[in-house]
Amino acid sequence: MSDNNRVLVVGGAGYIGSHCCKALAAAGYRPVCFDNFSTGHRDFVKWGPVIEGDIHDQSHLADSIKQHGVIAVLHFAASSLVGESVSDPQKYYHNNVAGTLSLLRAMRQAQCKSLVFSSSGAVYGESHQGLISETEMPRPVNPYGRTKLIIEEMLTDFHKAYALAPVCLRYFNASGADLSGEIGEDHDPETHLIPRALLAAQGKIEDFAIYGEDYDTPDGTAIRDYIHVMDLAQAHVLALKYLVSGGAGGCFNLGTGRGYSVRQILRQVCVYTGKKSPFAVKPRRQGDPPVLVADPARAKAILGFVPQYSDPSTIVGSAWRWHQRVHRAKAREARQTVLSLV
Ligand SMILES: NC(=O)c1ccc[n+]([C@@H]2O[C@H](COP(=O)([O-])OP(=O)(O)OC[C@H]3O[C@@H](n4cnc5c(N)ncnc54)[C@H](O)[C@@H]3O)[C@@H](O)[C@H]2O)c1
Repeated sequence: MSDNNRVLVVGGAGYIGSHCCKALAAAGYRPVCFDNFSTGHRDFVKWGPVIEGDIHDQSHLADSIKQHGVIAVLHFAASSLVGESVSDPQKYYHNNVAGTLSLLRAMRQAQCKSLVFSSSGAVYGESHQGLISETEMPRPVNPYGRTKLIIEEMLTDFHKAYALAPVCLRYFNASGADLSGEIGEDHDPETHLIPRALLAAQGKIEDFAIYGEDYDTPDGTAIRDYIHVMDLAQAHVLALKYLVSGGAGGCFNLGTGRGYSVRQILRQVCVYTGKKSPFAVKPRRQGDPPVLVADPARAKAILGFVPQYSDPSTIVGSAWRWHQRVHRAKAREARQTVLSLV
């Protein structure tokens, strides 16, 4: 590919951003990672240059866009813990909304017109029947979801006024790890079901809980749409191609159209680890609906997106291989630290 292949990946050192950088490089793009490493990992940046910086630093962003001559921006940087967004909404409106506004200003300053934004199924909130399509009225039920919706609306206004074309990708439950095992999910604190179930099965956490087993679902636990992170990454490559070839932009669900219950996922964890994950049953969390499953038709029709890896076995199997690798490395590091002290 020519020089016209550079993209700025803001938040590229995180879980989903790093998988996207790998997929972008495989598709012939040169990902330039821009990250403040607040939750990202330096050793997840392997597929292009890295710029250490914060999205609130508009001139640093604009200079980075100009210096690397990027054709588009992929924006993953955000704070994304739902519970924390309730206890500390200021952090979320600042990092997510104000941070994105700073990025948009920098893009205008540097005359970069294409943006792929990490939105979330959290924009839909509760009270849905059947598959959720993009025409559904978004009604987020927590500050995190509201920040994503506000950003989507901001992007629509920027599109109309300044011809800055955005694609908003509404991820459902991002999960799994790169099949090679070189990158994966490593959040701290970890709040997602699959990594927590794996940690519990290994006896590494004692406070693993599931929330609600009295839902009106076949086994009483909540049903969610799990999408493999490698599929998410591929969707970003497709969204980028769509935008740079003149696509009009818009919002797209990234899910599979199939839902799995918490108990079904725990059974897969048991298949791989050979152990049951001990858990406590806690009451349903406010705003947690019984079923959240995407209608994936729009992403398929317009972007040509068809998930390849998003069956529960591939998702849990890849997450398990990654966990084993990370925990072996952490154990080695701890042993070396102890040895250096004696
Ligand atoms: N993980 C999920 O299940 C999920 C689901 C839906 C949407 N999302 C969204 O996808 C995106 C990526 O999620 P993730 O799970 O990879 O999160 P992550 O925390 O692993 O990655 C976020 C990255 O952004 C960086 N970052 C955060 N604030 C920054 C700032 N002010 N300046 C520069 N860099 C900054 C972090 O250091 C990190 O590398 C987020 O926008 C998140 O809201 C995630």
